[in-house]
Amino acid sequence: MGVALVIPAAGSGSRFGSAIPKQYLPLAGRPVLAWTLEAFAGLVDEALLAVDDAWEADADALAAAAPFPCRTVRGGATRQASVAAALAAVAPHHDRVLVHDAVRPLVPRACIAACIAALDAHPAAVVAVPCAATVKRATSDGMAVAATVPREDLWLAQTPQGFRRFEGLSAFAAAGDLACTDDAQVMERAGHRVALVRGDARNLKITTPDDFAVAEALLRR
Ligand code: CTP
Ligand code: MG
Repeated sequence: MGVALVIPAAGSGSRFGSAIPKQYLPLAGRPVLAWTLEAFAGLVDEALLAVDDAWEADADALAAAAPFPCRTVRGGATRQASVAAALAAVAPHHDRVLVHDAVRPLVPRACIAACIAALDAHPAAVVAVPCAATVKRATSDGMAVAATVPREDLWLAQTPQGFRRFEGLSAFAAAGDLACTDDAQVMERAGHRVALVRGDARNLKITTPDDFAVAEALLRR
């Protein structure tokens, strides 16, 4: 019994555009991935980092400094493949798994705890926030508004996303290489009910250098 953390960290950051992948860049003095691991201190029993071979030495050093046992595995060509590789390495006595993006260093502890708690009653859970924006669907040429999409039942998925290990293993095996963009979708496709857990606007994902600047300002505050 216990909770394992899976961190897909094998991306190259093509939208970010830096020579060093964004997860290894120093954010307020420490690598992004170090902040991300620190956020889970005391909340998980082990972590698996899916990493690119070229950055294995850096990843191993961060794993050694993590506040819980932490190992690295070779990531895959897609986020889903990276998660599947790390999931396969989770110790079998851990019955619950959380997946969290390496590039969400600001995740509040309350969101993590709520996601873990949801797995007591549900096979899967996703941290998400209600959509506050007015959403437009575009015409096929992308030049005009075709419709305004009612936002009442729209939520924006964040991470962590969690599932029971046994159900997760079979769902990821069944998903093959469908390239789902998040883990909840893998569980949805397998027919599992995925609980919504209230996220936080500060739990931003670093995609571009602008996101990095916002994260740094929030961390220094
Ligand atoms: N990721 C991964 N393996 C991949 C692709 C992505 O482990 N083959 C990870 C990233 O390292 C990141 C998370 O999935 O922690 C979310 O992905 P994203 O923000 O898209 O990061 P990148 O794929 O690196 O960026 P981009 O899409 O701009 O190339
Ligand atoms: Mg990507």
